[in-house]
Amino acid sequence: MTPALTIVGLAKRYQNGADALQGVDLEVGRGEFFAILGPNGAGKSTLINIVAQVVTKSSGHVTVFGLSIDKHPQRTRMLLGFTPQEIALDPFFSVREVLRHHSGYYGITDNRAWIDELLERLDLAPHADKNSKALSGGMRRRLTIAKALAHKPRLLILDEPTAGVDVALRHSLWAFVRELHRNGTTIILTTHYIEEAQELAERVAILRAGQVAACDRTNALLASFGYRRFAIELRAAVPFPAGFASGSTEAQGRRIVGEFAVGRGQEFFSWLGGIADKVVDLRIDQPRLEDVFLHLTGKQT
Ligand SMILES: Nc1ncnc2c1ncn2[C@@H]1O[C@H](COP(=O)(O)OP(=O)(O)OP(=O)(O)O)[C@@H](O)[C@H]1O
Ligand SMILES: [Mg+2]
Repeated sequence: MTPALTIVGLAKRYQNGADALQGVDLEVGRGEFFAILGPNGAGKSTLINIVAQVVTKSSGHVTVFGLSIDKHPQRTRMLLGFTPQEIALDPFFSVREVLRHHSGYYGITDNRAWIDELLERLDLAPHADKNSKALSGGMRRRLTIAKALAHKPRLLILDEPTAGVDVALRHSLWAFVRELHRNGTTIILTTHYIEEAQELAERVAILRAGQVAACDRTNALLASFGYRRFAIELRAAVPFPAGFASGSTEAQGRRIVGEFAVGRGQEFFSWLGGIADKVVDLRIDQPRLEDVFLHLTGKQT
């Protein structure tokens, strides 16, 4: 089966000379839940905007369900729904009108029931008749998501959908997106809430300066990451161990937190044995996706 999205050798140089993407290859399978992570300026929005055809690429190929966006711009646009990071809504219409107009733009004339469901599921029903100008930031963000879904796309691309959305609504938003995913919609999202990506995405790509620094199944990425986090509570001060770990001491040396490479485990445990009489409590944890992210993007925990 052809993938939902195939990106080959994608490059983008903006007019001011910024090289936002420098040869990106990515493939997202049908029905996948895929996250694109990366620090500010890594090129996530540029990539998404190119796929959604609101930014033109400099070179490379993009296909959506096997169709080239160059050869089939209309058909590929119909197959996907997209929420931009920068929200732009027509201020003259109500929430419901925005959704109706958007459906009309996609040639759908009667999808009232679906619009009602979207309003309900995205907690916008009480605001349906409000002018979109009168919405709060988080409501506006949810309206852009409703808009992206109005024509029932098979591929949903969300650029930081939860930025500015409160905790409770973030949970209900994810429950809804998960349900869409279960029903067969392919989901691609970017987020700076890396724990969200770890929880939701089956596969993750990490972009760094316009290139793919890593792309793998979320579990594989965590398993292959050769570090363990530790935190030790002590009844007397102990200096931070030299050589095999990085981290720091806290509470006047009575707490040591850091990480060690799995390959240096023997050194860690023999050091631990040497201070065992002072240890009150000990935790060793698997890495979090955030740790992998920080290592790959060049910033230490
Ligand atoms: N319209 C533009 N004109 C010129 N340069 C741009 C434009 N949009 C983005 N850039 C540059 O391209 C690079 C990638 O930006 P992009 O917005 O794709 O990053 P991002 O990963 O989405 O970042 P963020 O996490 O901040 O949203 C940055 O160096 C940025 O300054
Ligand atoms: Mg962005």
